[in-house]
Amino acid sequence: MLAAFTTRTNAEDPLSALEVGERPVPEVPEGWARVRVRAAGLNHHDLWSLRGVGLPDERLPMILGCDAAGLDDEGNEVVVHAVIGDPAWKGDETLDPRRSLLSERHQGTLAAEVVVPRHNLVPKPAGLSWEEAASLPTAWLTAYRMLFTQAQVSPGQTILVQGAGGGVATALIALGSAAGVRVWVTGRSEEKRARALGLGADQVFESGARLPERVDAVMETVGAATWSHSVKALRPGGAIVICGATSGPAPENAELNRIFFLQLRVLGSTMGTRDELGRLLGFLQTSGVRPQIDSVLPLERAREGFARMANGELVGKVVFTPGN
Ligand SMILES: NC(=O)c1ccc[n+]([C@@H]2O[C@H](COP(=O)([O-])OP(=O)(O)OC[C@H]3O[C@@H](n4cnc5c(N)ncnc54)[C@H](OP(=O)(O)O)[C@@H]3O)[C@@H](O)[C@H]2O)c1
Repeated sequence: MLAAFTTRTNAEDPLSALEVGERPVPEVPEGWARVRVRAAGLNHHDLWSLRGVGLPDERLPMILGCDAAGLDDEGNEVVVHAVIGDPAWKGDETLDPRRSLLSERHQGTLAAEVVVPRHNLVPKPAGLSWEEAASLPTAWLTAYRMLFTQAQVSPGQTILVQGAGGGVATALIALGSAAGVRVWVTGRSEEKRARALGLGADQVFESGARLPERVDAVMETVGAATWSHSVKALRPGGAIVICGATSGPAPENAELNRIFFLQLRVLGSTMGTRDELGRLLGFLQTSGVRPQIDSVLPLERAREGFARMANGELVGKVVFTPGN
């Protein structure tokens, strides 16, 4: 079957590690289910994988991709939950020390078919297209948990989203504003800032700009480049929720004095649970909010989508269609 995969990672030149070609059709273990993929979303995670982050050589070759929507063997329209927990684990699977994301230990979604534990299939709401549904399980689920589980934002509060065009950032803007939160956004380009306003942002700012007032919570995915600004943007007792560090993990100034003196909270966040994915799908169905799609490409042209992400050209999600 057609797949986007890697047989050798490359920390300096991740695109050189990408292969698009034939892989064996996967076996279906007991208790697992086959999904014929109709659409598969790209995430920054896939670029990290090509660099070898979280993907050691002994697990190669590995099909990339965490996000998919498709048809199971009974013909049900399903969304794939990407967090694969240990079957013995009870409770929040994101806290399971042995959990992994699709494409870390188990073959990923950028393929004609993917197999996952049956429990990881969530019904696709009829109102969502394949491309929309395939954009949700990683970036949008992460944003949902950051806002509603970790920061526990309330209607009327103000949050700052660092970065305007990213997959998680666009989800944070759309979900936050639909929930009645005042969403302020920083972005590196005029065009991305304008598109953030179109997604529901209340105000947009250049990266690092002084804000009109301090905010209740900051949503961080950028890391080193924006960390200091994020800490300075918070009111006393406010929270930074961080799920990623695209620009690097070591900020020049960690602002530790401000963190303790203003009693700020730093909350890590990773993916979300199957139940949260179900609630996210329900929220989109009832609110009419939809993921912004940057581009839809046949899986054969996966390299173009990866290059757009690597060059930081995206606004919203890149989705691949394997042609099922
Ligand atoms: N923990 C989890 O479960 C989880 C889940 C999903 C993603 N993540 C992580 O979260 C991060 C974002 O993922 P994504 O899929 O949204 O990636 P993405 O689509 O590539 O977005 C990257 C974002 O970072 C911003 N950015 C990059 N470099 C910057 C710099 N030097 N200065 C300012 N802004 C910069 C971009 O802002 P502009 O719009 O201004 O260009 C954009 O908003 C990644 O590191 C990813 O690994 C973690």
